[in-house]
Amino acid sequence: MKNKYLHIITIGCQMNIYDSEQMAIRLKALGYNLIPFSERADLIIVNTCAIREKAEQKVFSLLGRLARLKKKNPGLILGVGGCVAQQEGKKLLQRVPCLDLVFGTHAAGRLPELVERIEQQGCRIVDIGMSDQKNSLESVLQYDQNINISKFVTIMQGCENFCTYCVVPYVRGKELSRKPEAIIREIKALVKSGAGEITLLGQNVNSYGKKEGISTFPELLASINRIEGLKRIRFTTSHPKDLSDELIECFANLDKLCKHIHLPVQSGSNRILRRMNRKYTREEYLEKIEKLREICPDIAVSTDLIAGFPGESKSDFEDTLELMKQVEYDSIFAFKYSDRPNAKAAGFSDKISENEKRTRLQRILKLQEGFTAQKNSSLVGLIQPVLVEGLSKKQDMDNQYDSNNNLQWTGRTSTNKIVNFFHDNDRKISDGSMSDRIYEGKLVDVKIKKALLHSLKGKLVVPEPRLSDKKGDNSYVA
Ligand code: 5AD
Ligand code: SF4
Repeated sequence: MKNKYLHIITIGCQMNIYDSEQMAIRLKALGYNLIPFSERADLIIVNTCAIREKAEQKVFSLLGRLARLKKKNPGLILGVGGCVAQQEGKKLLQRVPCLDLVFGTHAAGRLPELVERIEQQGCRIVDIGMSDQKNSLESVLQYDQNINISKFVTIMQGCENFCTYCVVPYVRGKELSRKPEAIIREIKALVKSGAGEITLLGQNVNSYGKKEGISTFPELLASINRIEGLKRIRFTTSHPKDLSDELIECFANLDKLCKHIHLPVQSGSNRILRRMNRKYTREEYLEKIEKLREICPDIAVSTDLIAGFPGESKSDFEDTLELMKQVEYDSIFAFKYSDRPNAKAAGFSDKISENEKRTRLQRILKLQEGFTAQKNSSLVGLIQPVLVEGLSKKQDMDNQYDSNNNLQWTGRTSTNKIVNFFHDNDRKISDGSMSDRIYEGKLVDVKIKKALLHSLKGKLVVPEPRLSDKKGDNSYVA
């Protein structure tokens, strides 16, 4: 089989990163080797995101640039997948003449077949059918050795909540959960290939299994917690309305579950929450945060916020700032509201001006800076277990070493904070044979020395060697 080169550009969420990886594995069977961006590529796929207007604009400017590449290399096959493809379908093929393939969020299983047809017939194809929903959720399990330490696993797709600002129910379709056995099989395969941490993905993981009557999300978590060799479990995203007491209790009962929850609130005003169709009140949300902190006092909480939803008055906005002060989030993602095709709020009449949205977004971000700094500073002087992802990938190579020429490593705390750390004598610990990977995938103790806004700096603590460590989270195994 001829060796061919594939490049995938992923825009958007973690689910897209997972989907892109699955595409690469599927296309390998057709002889495509995944490479970084290069004019040598025979096939370029853009995996797109439509969640906010900005992400969609990014797709179109990128396609403009790829069109120029295709002019130079007419043999190049250009494909667009994901949410924008699902949303635009045939219109996308008409609008971008250099495109060969448009495939939707449920066509991943058919991708090799589609590409093969283009190779053989030189045709242009649109496939945005939702019929293959089950199949597109089935993952391919042929992982390379030495994969990243931290991997994503999609456990369900689609959403039926219909928040009035959101495009997801239209582009990702109906909610569908994967079977627990398939998920467990996939995680075991990932662990065997070197993964230490798994993040379970879904638009609303809390409703996992409900429709199908298979195991609940807390039951799934408990089974995953038993997988040997797996060190950490994370999940995202949780809808506050479906956050059950059983799930909250998992933070106390499951030793591998990281102490972090992403719980998007979107707004602190009950009036706006109603207009968003979020199905919880500010009070109910705060009660859940309180329960989480009761069960797990040092849990980190992050959220998503939308600034300037249609009809958001000054007092609604103040309610959001007030809620932020009450919760004191570890981190947030905040966005200016933008109209999305099909979403109900696009038809609301009382829109907020761009200028006002920008001002409100800035106020949210500014307020959060103080809380993030405070949370990060509170860790200085403490020892934190860190799962090491590898050498720090700083662009500035000088920053990879400290003044004694020790390498800088990077990883995360259980609470999801990035920690860059040095060890006083890398060479000593690796017994003279300095290898790039000595700490990779290990859980190590790091003493936090300095807090920055987006990361922490620390120094490795070398404990007495232990023969075994059942709990995992405090282990250091050289
Ligand atoms: N405008 C702005 N932000 C949005 N989000 C989703 N749809 C929109 C929109 N139309 C944000 C929400 C969601 C996150 C993934 O993106 O905060 O939680
Ligand atoms: Fe969109 Fe709401 Fe579904 Fe989240 S829960 S994906 S915001 S519709």
